[in-house]
Amino acid sequence: MEGSSQKSVLRIQGGRRLEGAVAVKGSKNASLAVLSGVLACSEPVFLRGLPNVSDIRIKLGLMVQLGAKVEFFDEGVSIDCSELRNADIEPDLARKIRTSFYMLGPLMARLGNAKLPQPGGCPIGTRPVDFHIKGLTALGAKVDLRHGIYHAKADKLQGCEIYLDFPSAGATQHIMATAVLAEGHTVLQNAAIEPEVITLANFLNRMGAKVEGAGSTTITIEGVPRLKGGEFPIPADRLQAGTYLIAAAATGGSVRVEGVLPEFQSPVVSKLKEMGASVDQGGDWIQVHAGEYHAATTVKTMPYPGFPTDMQQPMAALLTTANGVSIVEETIYENRTQHVPELRRMGAIIHQDGRTCVITGVARLDGAVVTAPDLRGGAALVIAGLMARKETIVKGVEWIDRGYEDFETTLNSLGAEIERIPAEEWEAAS
Ligand code: EPZ
Repeated sequence: MEGSSQKSVLRIQGGRRLEGAVAVKGSKNASLAVLSGVLACSEPVFLRGLPNVSDIRIKLGLMVQLGAKVEFFDEGVSIDCSELRNADIEPDLARKIRTSFYMLGPLMARLGNAKLPQPGGCPIGTRPVDFHIKGLTALGAKVDLRHGIYHAKADKLQGCEIYLDFPSAGATQHIMATAVLAEGHTVLQNAAIEPEVITLANFLNRMGAKVEGAGSTTITIEGVPRLKGGEFPIPADRLQAGTYLIAAAATGGSVRVEGVLPEFQSPVVSKLKEMGASVDQGGDWIQVHAGEYHAATTVKTMPYPGFPTDMQQPMAALLTTANGVSIVEETIYENRTQHVPELRRMGAIIHQDGRTCVITGVARLDGAVVTAPDLRGGAALVIAGLMARKETIVKGVEWIDRGYEDFETTLNSLGAEIERIPAEEWEAAS
């Protein structure tokens, strides 16, 4: 699994209509959750469909530092965590992804103690880890933060009742991947019901765990002494799928996304319909046909199955040219609006008050030089570039590469005109 470490920009010629079909790749967030679960397995695991994006490469690299043996094959990736060790993980590497921290619990469950640096991830809010620590502590661990490193220790993990103050996807996954190796019965209440939580439960159960209720707000886990190995397919990425659907609507096009369950796209699809698009769907595909013009609407992010925070920024890009005034409210993260000044550079009219944006639709965006502030904000700017007159340059592409495999290649296969250029080359020429 290779990736370029070279900084790039995307040069987008706007105004091309997207048409055609796209097979959606494996889910980044489901993969990151499953990789935490792999650490709990005492035998080799074979994952099919792991996406080749930088977040996954980083997490696999961290797992190797912890003793995992990773081998890449055409059909998937083999990961053997039979012999783990605690290592002095470089804080800068751990800080690149949020889910580096979600390895603390399973590693401790395997070794009796574990240490990992404070995590990072997209700069979209403060993103504390208090729910995680509360959960691990309830299971019997002692967790300390010393000089930026979390240390967790437990002679024995004991099943218990845990109530989450908020249905955090990450805390739900982290506690599940730990409690599967605790003694006895754990009940996790107010759990996240995200599809990625169900994927992790399916993975853990395939490896011999006893997890019930994933996908509901109460998850019960009967601990087992060890997890075995086996094969597991990573499902398609619902957030990539949503991005391509929004991009299709934004360019007045017609795109079919394949390999995804339509029920996971309901919030995005219902908004696209409200805006005037027509949508067809089958067992594992959705096709959006943009309407003649798109109407303004309101979007409020909520935990699943509400409108996903991850699709808020791409949706804001689409709404910049909607007919009328739209309101977009972000309720999950404090700082997931850094795309707004960049969209304004392209002519968008957005009034921002805290986490709420009032977007007055304009006839057309204009190409500009903009910088991706984070992963989904970067995707939003690419969509804006596709909608805009003339040329847009999106800098900070490394954010987009964290979660979208072959993003511009896929969009180009649908008729977009996007070129990846080394940042140095573009800077020298501009
Ligand atoms: C996951 O992040 C995803 N990341 C995010 O996707 C996604 O936006 C988010 O879930 C919500 O769906 C991965 O799966 C790797 P949370 P996570 O714990 O697990 C607060 C993307 O673009 N909170 O559900 O970090 C937190 O600050 C990424 O692909 C606490 O207060 O999300 C936030 O406000 C970005 N204390 C809310 O809960 C905690 O201990 C939801 O966070 C944990 C979370």
